[in-house]
Amino acid sequence: MTTQRLTTADLKQMKQRGEKIVVLTSYDASFTIQLEKAGVDVLLVGDSLGMVLQGHDTTLPVTIDDMVYHTSMVSRVRQRAYLVSDFSYKSYETPEQALSNAQRLIAAGADMVKLEGGNEMLAVIRHLVDNGIPVCGHLGLLPQSVERLGGYKVQGRDEEDAQTIIDDAISLTKAGIELVVLECIPMALATKVTAAIDIPTIGIGAGVQCDGQVLVVYDMLGLYPGKRPKFSKDFLLEQPEGKGLEAAFEAYVQQVKDGTFPDELHSFK
Ligand code: KIV
Repeated sequence: MTTQRLTTADLKQMKQRGEKIVVLTSYDASFTIQLEKAGVDVLLVGDSLGMVLQGHDTTLPVTIDDMVYHTSMVSRVRQRAYLVSDFSYKSYETPEQALSNAQRLIAAGADMVKLEGGNEMLAVIRHLVDNGIPVCGHLGLLPQSVERLGGYKVQGRDEEDAQTIIDDAISLTKAGIELVVLECIPMALATKVTAAIDIPTIGIGAGVQCDGQVLVVYDMLGLYPGKRPKFSKDFLLEQPEGKGLEAAFEAYVQQVKDGTFPDELHSFK
């Protein structure tokens, strides 16, 4: 495997070639080394760490200091993978606050920062991009807005909501985002979004037509004791007896690359 670090240009070319982009969350050095070995293309230091590492019910209590700390653990050992770090809740409320926190994440080793939200985020995105910070969007189910959304529910089911997600994806792309996560939306809608923009879409509960897939690493190993979401799969459980984490990560990489994950059972119609 080449140790040349992937860039956003590489990810865009993968979309153009129809080559799937494999993404997993990672929060520390040991997981990062295993994920790199298996061939994961993008590591996401997600604020899901608030739930799977810290034991909170939501991602809201996570702080920007937590995100900087975990980003530095991952970046210390990563080699080839592209590294995206989440902004924590309320850490990007104004363009100035977002820039100063993004600079901390980049200094800790992130290549790109991820924020949740649609058109209301345009001023923040433009300010980050104008200051040279690569940005990833996040549309559909927004875990940081879980209280407003009334729980972890599939988004974009009615025509108006679906159109808003498509319009948001287009306007965020025009504002300069270079990657977008689509969470918990019907497959057909994710397919439309993926066709409407020239940047890669990374799905989680959004169907196989996205340009790439992401899962929370603790979910796909069956390590998180909470209820596993419908769209996630326990790849460790699927391995023959005696095969460990390495085989589970390799199976995930293989199934995303060959388009067998997610199947319809792990998607929303
Ligand atoms: O925080 C996270 O892990 C995420 C993924 C669910 C995409 O944002």
